[in-house]
Amino acid sequence: MSTTIALVGLGRISKRHIEAIAANPRLKIVQVCDVKKEKAQKAALALNCPFCTDYKTIRGAEIISVLTPSGMHPLHAQEIANATDCRYIVVEKPIALHGNEADALFDGVAKAGKTLLPVFQNRYNPLVVFLKELVASGRLGRVYSFVCNVLWSRDANYFADDWHGTLAVDGGVLFTQASHYIDMVHFLFGQLQSYTGKGANERGYEIYDTHSMSLHFKNGVIGSINSTISVYRQNYMTEFTLMAEKGTIRLSGTNLNKVEFWDVEGMEKPNKDFAIDHIYGKGHDTMYQYILDGSFEMFPKREEVVSGIRLMEDLSFQVLTKR
Ligand SMILES: NC(=O)c1ccc[n+]([C@@H]2O[C@H](COP(=O)([O-])OP(=O)(O)OC[C@H]3O[C@@H](n4cnc5c(N)ncnc54)[C@H](O)[C@@H]3O)[C@@H](O)[C@H]2O)c1
Repeated sequence: MSTTIALVGLGRISKRHIEAIAANPRLKIVQVCDVKKEKAQKAALALNCPFCTDYKTIRGAEIISVLTPSGMHPLHAQEIANATDCRYIVVEKPIALHGNEADALFDGVAKAGKTLLPVFQNRYNPLVVFLKELVASGRLGRVYSFVCNVLWSRDANYFADDWHGTLAVDGGVLFTQASHYIDMVHFLFGQLQSYTGKGANERGYEIYDTHSMSLHFKNGVIGSINSTISVYRQNYMTEFTLMAEKGTIRLSGTNLNKVEFWDVEGMEKPNKDFAIDHIYGKGHDTMYQYILDGSFEMFPKREEVVSGIRLMEDLSFQVLTKR
């Protein structure tokens, strides 16, 4: 018997979800929903399932995945929790743009008897998992610091819709791009002690398109995340460099899929590079498998999600730097 699933919001990221679900014989899409009827109709035709334009009418899906614009996630996920008969609500990153909304959503979904499952697929990247296990094993000795650079490009087309570039629904480069890596450093290093940062709106949109932050974790690790979507013409790279007592490791590639540098005491460079055919990676496949397996501990924890959102909220909703 397949586990049934409905998708709400049939834009860019829905294609990755559809691909991940299609690759899993134990999952079946039973309904799709988009406020834009023609989008819903088109997806329903391709997937051979019914469609709707009001997510409150969805019935018979055990999982509902919320793939709508970011700032709408709290409202949409809560209404879905209240009105439908699903068990699990998967919500794309970020689940909210404000820490108090994220916190309230965990409570509200639980009150409706459902489970909220936030998407942060980077933590399922095999090289990130390997790094986490290595750090936890103690083989690197004390971890000193990290540098993470997310140097991407988003052209005017990206901003041409009704939500990208808006402070209220998009939130900016931290929420829309860097959030994956903010989650990753919570996953690797635990609780945050403090942070500071500065953003700029180089392109004149309402949001920061470029940002630089410095983080300090309770376990003593310090590091920086620099993110931008204003690289000239094309995505440049994502990189993560870790400096520890007994080693230096640099992951790079389209989305941390290559070990670019390796110098670790008593350990050969692992043969773990992998190919990805698009920037999202294959983590959504793993995420759905974890639901089927009941491995809910593999999802980002409430404290981690809320901590990340509070940080992004603090550093994104400052008075914007005008140049
Ligand atoms: N995990 C990742 O790597 C990743 C990558 C891209 C986007 N995302 C996230 O996915 C979300 C969607 O991004 P996108 O790029 O697909 O956006 P998009 O604009 O391409 O698609 C959003 C869709 O939601 C629909 N929608 C809006 N309100 C709705 C409602 N009330 N009911 C039903 N449908 C509604 C819109 O009509 C649109 O089709 C964002 O939160 C984004 O941050 C995650």
